[in-house]
Amino acid sequence: MGEKSRKPLLVLYASQTGNALDAAERVGREAERRGCPVILSSMDEFDANSLTLEKTVIFVVSTTGQGDAPDAMKVFWKYLLQKNLPKSWLEGVHYAVFGLGDSGYQKFNFVAKKLDRRLHDLGASAIVERGLGDDQHPSGYEGALDPWMTSLWRVLYQINPTFFPHGPDYIPPTSQLLDQPKYQIVYHELGLLQAGLSVVSDSKSPAMEIERARSMSPAKLSYDKSTPDAFLKMVRNEPLTRKGCGRDVRHFEFEFFPSTISYDVGDVLEVLPSQNPDLVDAFIQRCNLDPEAFITVCPKQRGSHLVDGSKSGQALPINLKKYVELAMDVTSASPRRYFFEVMSYFATAEHEKERLEYFVSPEGRDDLYQYNQKERRTVLEVLEDFPSVQMPFEWLVELVPPLRKRAFSIASSPSAHPNQVHLTVSVVSWTTPFKRKRMGLCSSWLASLDPLQATGVTIPSWFHKGSLPAPPPSLPLILIGPGTGCAPFRGFLAERAAHDTSSSAAPIMFFFGCRNEGDDFLYRDLWLSHSHDGGLLSEARGGGFYVAFSRDQPQKVYVQHKMREQSQKIWAALSEGGAAIYVAGSSTNMPSDVMLAVEEIISKEGGVAREAAAVLIRRLERDGKYHVEAWS
Ligand code: 2AM
Repeated sequence: MGEKSRKPLLVLYASQTGNALDAAERVGREAERRGCPVILSSMDEFDANSLTLEKTVIFVVSTTGQGDAPDAMKVFWKYLLQKNLPKSWLEGVHYAVFGLGDSGYQKFNFVAKKLDRRLHDLGASAIVERGLGDDQHPSGYEGALDPWMTSLWRVLYQINPTFFPHGPDYIPPTSQLLDQPKYQIVYHELGLLQAGLSVVSDSKSPAMEIERARSMSPAKLSYDKSTPDAFLKMVRNEPLTRKGCGRDVRHFEFEFFPSTISYDVGDVLEVLPSQNPDLVDAFIQRCNLDPEAFITVCPKQRGSHLVDGSKSGQALPINLKKYVELAMDVTSASPRRYFFEVMSYFATAEHEKERLEYFVSPEGRDDLYQYNQKERRTVLEVLEDFPSVQMPFEWLVELVPPLRKRAFSIASSPSAHPNQVHLTVSVVSWTTPFKRKRMGLCSSWLASLDPLQATGVTIPSWFHKGSLPAPPPSLPLILIGPGTGCAPFRGFLAERAAHDTSSSAAPIMFFFGCRNEGDDFLYRDLWLSHSHDGGLLSEARGGGFYVAFSRDQPQKVYVQHKMREQSQKIWAALSEGGAAIYVAGSSTNMPSDVMLAVEEIISKEGGVAREAAAVLIRRLERDGKYHVEAWS
């Protein structure tokens, strides 16, 4: 093999939340460890036209929402779909695809599958079967990634032994080889800052601080907007569930500024939670950091996928404590395995080093899983369990997961409540196998705010389109929203009610589900008031409200059971009324069970085979008449 055969392995990834980037980096790192040169690039920074020049390409792509490609893949994918590309366009190119998805969703790893098919149709040759990472797997996507990589290295070695000078299974011990951090921390003298720059006073503005911290963060994705659209002030925090019933769902109302913001019913609100200040302090202390320091975080080398304007060193300094608070999630659960690898390198106590090295070895996998994932240890707890590890800050900024915004379906209508936005939030809490109580960061923080006391608290937020388009007033609706899935439909009803002057709005059927009538019948009075006296959900208007209490009798009753009972009415609404179906709620099984019920109803009432009913549902989806918003 000549020089050409040493062409680096190209790893192309498309990431929405950063997981595919993690996975791609892991593939790159493992290949480099075995002696193989690698180029890592995000798809939106790669010219698809030059794919034909490559010999071997590894694709790592995630599937988001309802089977959608990440934003970073859109242009690349459009290029690949061009009709005029010849069938042999990628002849001679070897490829492998690894997908990241969630089997709780119907279109599991849809993007990886369609990419694989398209590459094959364009003449490229798959060298290993595509790998499909699954969030539902106990070890997340890594459960599938490890065995997939093992096959990949072996096949690559067969194709081209120069990829791996020591063979595909050789791995140098971690203690001998440590990658370099990709970021550096520049410390700024406070005196100089005060003299030269207005950063100190600037940084008092919360928007500026958020913008500064988050655009510097290594986890920043190019399409992620750093500056909040609005700062919310909580004006209402009300439980929707019976105290002591084991569930805690809240109704929150917020006012927002500036008032120029506009949103639509069905949109999504992202919220940046505040971390517990004591834990931020504990982290800073544990890591021996100076909370008063002024820093910038910037990439070490240019020309990689990490570079963008805000990270190339021109960023303005920020107070270190603020940076940690706004950009690093110090209590994020279950740090990835690489975190333990790097820790093992910095451990100075022998027994800690041994334990960490064991954790990251193939033999230690199960124990790491028990310690880390099962128990959902936080970054801070892990660091406290290994006190001899002193990881430099440039490693921490890269390895501590970023503080994530949390997305919620908006539960209000701007017509009914101008300058307000409402949310329906389940306060997440659970107990670990060792009986430790855990709380979800964002939901428990919001639940802890008291609108009367928390006058100074403003909540950084972003407004987005979700997958539920606002329905026009004349469109008949079949809404299915068990649990907090009712949130967007509260907005739909409020919107229709705000414009309902003639009683002529189109009929709405709403299927709601909860555990018990007395415990978690969210917004009970609201739905019931709309169902009576010619209200929006009333039978008099051709609509209806149907509720399934899953645990009020020995056998489970779910929304789909209630839908089957209304089979004729649903069919009439679909076939004669031209109704649209909207489904929202928890991702696990509900959306697919509901779709099966719709298929059954169409088949039974329309007198067609199940296959034909499934085709009809596809058509509804294509025509924008079947929408799903699911969350886990
Ligand atoms: P369960 O918890 O009793 O199983 C809101 O979470 C409601 O949705 C609950 O009543 C819950 O019932 C129900 N639910 C759970 N799985 C579902 C599914 N696959 N389809 C429809 N509803 C479901």
